Amino acid sequence: MRSILSASRAIARQPTCTSRFQRNTLPTIATRGYAMSRPAPKLNDPSLLKDKTYVNGEWIGAKSGKTFEVHDPATGEVIGTMPEFDRADTEAAIAAAQAALPSFRKTTGRERSRLLRKWYQLMMDNADDLAKLITWENGKPLADANGEVTYAANFFEWFAEEAPRLNGATIPSSVPGNRIFTIKEPVGVVGLITPWNFPAAMVTRKIGPALAAGCTVVAKSPGETPFTAAALAELAHRAGIPKGVINIVTSDKNTPELGKTITTSPAVKKVSFTGSTGVGKLLMTDSSSTLKKLSFELGGNAPFIVFDDADLDAAVAGAVASKFRSSGQTCVCANRIYVQSGLYDRFVEKLAEKVRGFKVGYGTDEGVTHGPLISEKAIKKVTEHVSDAVSKGAQVVIGGSPLRDLGARFFEPTVIRDMKPGMKIASEETFGPVAGIFRFDTEAEVVALANDTDVGLAGYFFSRDVERVYRIAEALEVGMVGVNTGLISDPAAPFGGVKESGFGREGSVMGIDEYVVTKMVTLGNNGQPLQGSS
Ligand code: SIN
Repeated sequence: MRSILSASRAIARQPTCTSRFQRNTLPTIATRGYAMSRPAPKLNDPSLLKDKTYVNGEWIGAKSGKTFEVHDPATGEVIGTMPEFDRADTEAAIAAAQAALPSFRKTTGRERSRLLRKWYQLMMDNADDLAKLITWENGKPLADANGEVTYAANFFEWFAEEAPRLNGATIPSSVPGNRIFTIKEPVGVVGLITPWNFPAAMVTRKIGPALAAGCTVVAKSPGETPFTAAALAELAHRAGIPKGVINIVTSDKNTPELGKTITTSPAVKKVSFTGSTGVGKLLMTDSSSTLKKLSFELGGNAPFIVFDDADLDAAVAGAVASKFRSSGQTCVCANRIYVQSGLYDRFVEKLAEKVRGFKVGYGTDEGVTHGPLISEKAIKKVTEHVSDAVSKGAQVVIGGSPLRDLGARFFEPTVIRDMKPGMKIASEETFGPVAGIFRFDTEAEVVALANDTDVGLAGYFFSRDVERVYRIAEALEVGMVGVNTGLISDPAAPFGGVKESGFGREGSVMGIDEYVVTKMVTLGNNGQPLQGSS
């Protein structure tokens, strides 16, 4: 769903920032059936809105002069442009990161910690503006966007605390007199490729540990949502992060070319990617030519299981949070909801009741709880999943249709009951606001169903039986388990998957390990025993 190989868009000449601020005076693109145009966000600090990108400490365009259009997902309207980088632009960004590496890797952890801490503080000081940018380009409601800014900034806070604690080890040698110790060194220049669904948090979750470790960065921001990443780069500049340490490359149509440039460059020593499993496989193939260190957070198909012994209200609240966060557009969203027979009807009823209370609309409008989906392609997939389920006997309890009067990218939050294993939702990630509810009878049956997929990112279950909690947490083939909660995202928690959901962990004390290499040093001592050893 979050493929970086997003559809090609027409390349237009680059308007100035000012013209974007005057966007509300532009006519609506009525021929495409979109809703009324929306006013551009009024930022407290308008200089956070960029139409250039940040490389080697400077704001630049593509060498070719080409740009790509960015669209408001709520209206489909063009809200601005960004440089359409190509191979040569990306190679220049990699060269800048390479040139900055020798001095940045020599900084102390404490120095890097202070930089990250400053950047964190600047994010918090500018949280309102960052949230407005997120809502503008991604569509999520302002309250969610505010939550994302805090979540995103917290990765900098977290890794500011990890940077000074990159401890190695001392290891007793098998050889008399020898000493062994290890040093954790930065892996080098890293290439980071981030998705549109969290325009801030996926950037900070990767850059935070990279900088903490002493790496320099070339980050590819998403074609759909490049403005937030650019604003973060502006704040990095203000925080005093040295030139060349952070470089942001932007593109839409050329994204596969940029991906290839990053993954095949001998100068880039590690790639971290969040996106679809399909694209992950391509990037991994390309990275093999230079044997890079990799960490991939790929697609999910999360099972969400409610046992008869669950707290029903907590399970419903968990399903609302897990399934409908960001209108179902997170890779850890519940995708298959399994409810045991004893609670099935009441769960369906209560979930539908909660969904009835949602308000869908433009992210900045008062009381809106759910915004648009990112594209018309996303609407098409969600519509297909609903009609496939209905054609095979499932029943729509609430929702089920696109909300055409709001625009081309809105879909009703939907609850469907009587789901069966052969339906598309059982095997494909919907990435939209559709809760398909399956009935089950036994624990063994539901564990088999939950694990019957090639991917394994997150899984959730609700139960008050302590023994079952351990049993199911261990039985689920996923990288992350939420027990009696639908929200597992936390900078303190290791985030990542198993199977075709990828490998590596982001956030937490483990996140920095993805950006270091362990060097071992053996000190010989001519076979002389250690002092005091017999
Ligand atoms: C994702 O959807 O890729 C990340 C979700 C999260 O961090 O909660």
